[in-house]
Amino acid sequence: MNRNLYLNKLKKIKNIINHVAIIADGNGRWANINGKSRYFGHKEGLKSIMKIINISIYYHIKALTLYVFSTENWKRPETEVNYLMDLFKKTLKKQIYKLNNKNIKLNIIGEKIEFNKELRTYIYESENITKNNTGLILNIAANYGGKWDIIQCIKKIFYKIKNKKISIEDINESIINKNISTYNSPPIDLLIRTGGELRISNFLLWQIAYSELYFTKTLWPDFDKFNFEEALISFYKRTRKFGNLINKG
Ligand code: IPE
Ligand code: IPE
Ligand code: MG
Repeated sequence: MNRNLYLNKLKKIKNIINHVAIIADGNGRWANINGKSRYFGHKEGLKSIMKIINISIYYHIKALTLYVFSTENWKRPETEVNYLMDLFKKTLKKQIYKLNNKNIKLNIIGEKIEFNKELRTYIYESENITKNNTGLILNIAANYGGKWDIIQCIKKIFYKIKNKKISIEDINESIINKNISTYNSPPIDLLIRTGGELRISNFLLWQIAYSELYFTKTLWPDFDKFNFEEALISFYKRTRKFGNLINKG
């Protein structure tokens, strides 16, 4: 694509995309290729996260959902899991006021009870600090699984039925959307996976029914502004039909 055409397309992608979800994969392979430890790879991955948050704000994206730790990632060696938990805690502590200054509303989606108490305290505090913000909705999927999300959603609905807040007949798509972890975000327009794997790895299952999918071999620490813009332009060029015959946008 020549430069002018590229810049022209970039102008058009502002405001057209509401919600981007990203499986931020490839930190370990990046480290391996660059002769560094996996820990170093995760630290570099964190820098990409901060960059992509800023670019999302620039493109007026309303919600960004980042997969940073899955319900299956506990299977990794204890040292790596501990490192990731510590990095998560330190990042919340260090970045929360910067995120707040950017008017970001931070939600940690995932099963929080399995994190240690100290980390949980940081999570609740961070969510509380940013809860009234009106800018980018930033959902960090940590100890998240698409299957877990569906189960927690069923449980919430079941309790509402038990407490006679709703009846079984009320269960429909809208009720599920209201009880799924991303309830406060618009539908996911684009799902990006970095790192070259062609799978969902138990990320959002219900929510991606009609999302556009974008897979790139770029490893997450290398995923930069240009790579993100390429994904957004790819989204811009797609025709979304939602089962219909014509583009209903
Ligand atoms: C993604 O990178 C980050 C986490 C899952 C925490 P990986 O650590 O999975 O990197 P690869 O897939 O081994 O390269
Ligand atoms: C998915 O990556 C989870 C995150 C990026 C946080 P994994 O590296 O855990 O996925 P698999 O094991 O390759 O499917
Ligand atoms: Mg991986």
